[in-house]
Amino acid sequence: MKTQDESLAACLQIIGQRTSHQPKMGLVLGSGLGFLADQVEDAIAIEYSQLPGFPVSTVPGHAGRLVLGKLQGQPVAVMQGRFHYYEGYAMSDVTRGIRLFHLLGIETLLITNAAGGISASFSPGDLMLITDHLNLMGTNPLIGLSAESAGPLFPDMSTAYDLDLRAQALAAAKQEKLQLRQGVYAGLTGPSYETPAEIRMLATMGADAVGMSTVPEVIVARWLGLRVLGISCISNLAAGLSDQPLSHDEVKSTAQAAQDRFCRLLLAIMDRIEREV
Ligand code: HPA
Repeated sequence: MKTQDESLAACLQIIGQRTSHQPKMGLVLGSGLGFLADQVEDAIAIEYSQLPGFPVSTVPGHAGRLVLGKLQGQPVAVMQGRFHYYEGYAMSDVTRGIRLFHLLGIETLLITNAAGGISASFSPGDLMLITDHLNLMGTNPLIGLSAESAGPLFPDMSTAYDLDLRAQALAAAKQEKLQLRQGVYAGLTGPSYETPAEIRMLATMGADAVGMSTVPEVIVARWLGLRVLGISCISNLAAGLSDQPLSHDEVKSTAQAAQDRFCRLLLAIMDRIEREV
């Protein structure tokens, strides 16, 4: 059995054989949001099954591949499909892609997800800039890891979502005349959706949206010193806020319906960030 470091070194070698792109930005595309990967130019795609140590995403709506190429002229690495804790993977697997991004030299992480809307002002299809998160997964991906030298033992999370990147995202939304909500993302393990009582609890705790991903990846990214920008697509009203039962089909179809706005926003953000660098 290889250690994670050995597997990641093997991944780097495989990637190096396929492309000479040196991405500075990494994207993680969430449920129903994988379409942005289709816009990558000069793309090479590597199935996760070809990457040593990578688990295979089991969730419909999540392709399982790493796409390297250019978006808006900028070299990027895109995870089209991610790993979730509820799939039964260890946190080290859930966050493996972020460690690979770091080893590839990526400095900025643009992370996306589909989330249930809790804030009364949100509607399905809204896009939300993540300002902060609540880690309600009952564990932390750095347990047993943070003693390694890659990052600090007790990493600071006081501005996990980079203030400057958030300002750029708001400016990009304004420029594109797109509404961009802002709010706190609560990360729970799933896979069951929340009960209405849990949603009331989350609202009291200050959550504006709820989902089953992102938080572990952001914690590891911050530990490794990456700057993070997070965008949620509000795919449904959270449990108890509408009279409809929740379903993954609704999550996927709302995310797909938002795809044009979502792509426009992300590309405009990338444009601005690139100009800034
Ligand atoms: N709850 C949890 N995760 C989700 C939801 C939700 O309502 N929608 C999309 N992912």
